[in-house]
Amino acid sequence: MAGWKIAVLPGDGVGQEVTPEAVRVLTTVGKATGVGFEFEQGIVGGAAIDAHGTPLPPATFDLCRKANAILFGAVGGPKWDHLIPDQRPERGLLILRKELDLFANLRPATCFPMLVDASPLKRSVVEGTDLMVVRELTGGLYFGEPRGVEEDADGHRRAINTMAYTEREIERVARVGFDVARKRKKRLTSVDKANVLVVSQLWREVLVRVSKEFPDVTLDHVLVDNCAMALVGRPTQFDTIVTENMFGDILSDEAAILAGSMGMLPSASLGGAVGLYEPVHGSAPDIAGQGIANPIAAIFSAAMLLRYSLNMVQDADRVDAAVLRVLEQGYRTGDIASPGTKRAGTKEMGDLIVRAVEEQY
Ligand code: IPM
Ligand code: MG
Repeated sequence: MAGWKIAVLPGDGVGQEVTPEAVRVLTTVGKATGVGFEFEQGIVGGAAIDAHGTPLPPATFDLCRKANAILFGAVGGPKWDHLIPDQRPERGLLILRKELDLFANLRPATCFPMLVDASPLKRSVVEGTDLMVVRELTGGLYFGEPRGVEEDADGHRRAINTMAYTEREIERVARVGFDVARKRKKRLTSVDKANVLVVSQLWREVLVRVSKEFPDVTLDHVLVDNCAMALVGRPTQFDTIVTENMFGDILSDEAAILAGSMGMLPSASLGGAVGLYEPVHGSAPDIAGQGIANPIAAIFSAAMLLRYSLNMVQDADRVDAAVLRVLEQGYRTGDIASPGTKRAGTKEMGDLIVRAVEEQY
């Protein structure tokens, strides 16, 4: 049966290892439900620079544009570190986000009961953590103009990035934040730096205005430096966080500590016609090629793909449940291992989860 077209972009490093496991999980869901998935591979990032001289070849962009959803791995690596930002592997991902208008990035961070000890933080701090970061993804410092490096007559350089947001850009991500919060515990924390930045003052003003459309959601404001502290001090006080691009980038990595590992965090990038799903972790060159990377973030990302792009909510729940089942059985990749657990590599973890997904039907 002709079905959903999924663009698969494994990218670099562990992206090459974890993405196939997520594809296997979707294939398993397809078999169990009779829903057809058509996977088409695209080249992106450093691999694309090596093969085609550009991090996002036109064929890959085309593939993404025509797909129902994109499953993305990771991009970057030491081999391309010498390149200027505009030519780096990361640029491929940034262009995709921008061109596909993926302005809202959902990054859930949950401390699952069986992984409490995987976090370096105390049990009393992380236990019960269940939060969602809604990160603005196509504005702010990442894309603001002017940007670039200029040189004065004496050869002294000056580098510029600009943090800029229009009211419209703030409004639309604010609405996503409120919508997400409405389906959770109805508490939205807007994170900004309104004591210093005019951008943040506008951000706060717009958030307050949009909050009138969501009277059932409680809105509060936290400064980003304070949020960084509270996130590892009292993470359970947060439900849904909405914040601008760079703040969200930083805070979502910090949130990985609450979930036990970066290898646990999935994400969904939404807003345009095609959603993009990727683990929050990067290409992890230090462990790439060893078959030990945690595929769970990629598999949870596939579950988000089912949930948000294909509206296969029950199947998404089944995948999530299957992952938890395998964790309950004591299997762990190295990043989340603790004494008494059973060690699994990337493929083995994928096998276990595939089997657990089959058992959900
Ligand atoms: C992320 C990553 C990206 C970002 C990089 C790879 C461009 O860190 O998705 O959090 O900065 O947004
Ligand atoms: Mg990041």
